[in-house]
Amino acid sequence: MKALVIGNGGREHALAWKLLQSPQVSEVVCIPGNGGTATLAGCRNLALNPSDFEGIARVALVNNLSLVVVGPEQPLADGIVDALQAEGLAVFGPSQAGAQIEASKAWAKDLMAAAGIPTAAAATFTEAAPAIAYVEAQGAPIVVKADGLAAGKGVTVAQSVEEAKAAIAAAFGGQFGAAGQRLVIEEYLTGQEASVLAVTDGLTIRPLVPAQDHKPIGEGDTGPNTGGMGAYAPTPVVPPELLDRVQTTILEPAIAALRDRGIDYRGVLYAGLMITPDGTPKVVEFNCRFGDPETQVILPLLETPLDDILLACIEQRLEDLPPIEWKAQAAACVVAAAAGYPGSHEKGMTISGLEAATEAGAVVFHGGTQFKGGQVLAYGGRVLGVTALGDSFGAALQRAYGAIAAIEFDGIYYRKDIGYRVRDWGQ
Ligand code: AMP
Ligand code: GLY
Repeated sequence: MKALVIGNGGREHALAWKLLQSPQVSEVVCIPGNGGTATLAGCRNLALNPSDFEGIARVALVNNLSLVVVGPEQPLADGIVDALQAEGLAVFGPSQAGAQIEASKAWAKDLMAAAGIPTAAAATFTEAAPAIAYVEAQGAPIVVKADGLAAGKGVTVAQSVEEAKAAIAAAFGGQFGAAGQRLVIEEYLTGQEASVLAVTDGLTIRPLVPAQDHKPIGEGDTGPNTGGMGAYAPTPVVPPELLDRVQTTILEPAIAALRDRGIDYRGVLYAGLMITPDGTPKVVEFNCRFGDPETQVILPLLETPLDDILLACIEQRLEDLPPIEWKAQAAACVVAAAAGYPGSHEKGMTISGLEAATEAGAVVFHGGTQFKGGQVLAYGGRVLGVTALGDSFGAALQRAYGAIAAIEFDGIYYRKDIGYRVRDWGQ
């Protein structure tokens, strides 16, 4: 079987890498891919735009690409799955209607309310004056969220009413374009965040190993939020009993509520959770796709061939799939970013030491890289995700940090404290 992966981040490199480990998969094509997928044996890139659904369908049909996996949320929200399915292709990912669970936070809040899913109390606004009156009445801290997709930048956790008011003014002033013309303002939750990614065929839903990522750029989880500076799995913050509770109070009701709305959701449902101080898991957000960098720690632990799971979802026979099997190890990923990220950053730096990092026992997933003239160059903000396994988190982290130390490019930045909450677990 030949597969097609849509996207160009570390998540997509990890998907291609994992698919190629399956005995059934002979080749993976990435659109558009990155320097990692360009240099991965069995994989090749095609320089098409992920928004060119017609072109992608043609390439998939001509090349006999019989399994399509969509990485990022934007093409999902724009209806790539509907467009490719109409051409008879087998595509893993929700329809445009299903992708609203990520593409509209107000829509997701309504769904959670209807299904009785625990989440922060919230209200939705399309004008500044009532939004300001609401934050004045509620007080701070309070969270202001652009309704639509804003590349991970649409959320302000406001520590003061003034900060919340500034976020409201900026959003209605056009900071996020149309995505910020409707706002969800919600209760501030405290606790530990965790990511539970689950696969579903619209009827059955099965969680993958729970993960945690580090969103802030700075050590000690300080500074502005990024797409994620590192991750680890399986996080002990979500032990098996709690995962069962997430399954029955969040994942199953979500799928049932989607079905009630006539949505046959097949793909990943990613619940971003806050484990509140009394132990109740509450939903911070839903995503309609694999997480990045969570995927870079989840997939290396997976024993079951990935294509078996994806096809069972597409063909709506997940209930009959044997239990998903996992390595009994810990995985950790440390992200190397370009100086300046998450703000503007340099591009085109030569990366060295990739082989030495692999020899040190890590898998290096590429994010923003390109392969040009026989060299791997840094282009994106999050450039590489250096992932390692170990018999404990301490061992996995030691191996990942040993490997990343071998890598160099101008301005390389990575957090030195990834996994600080779990470093000593299992030793
Ligand atoms: P989101 O894009 O909705 O996941 O929000 C981005 C980040 O903002 C989350 O990962 C949390 O760290 C923080 N956040 C979002 N909503 C809340 C909330 N209700 N309470 C506390 N922190 C939040
Ligand atoms: N790591 C957060 C996300 O994928 O949304």
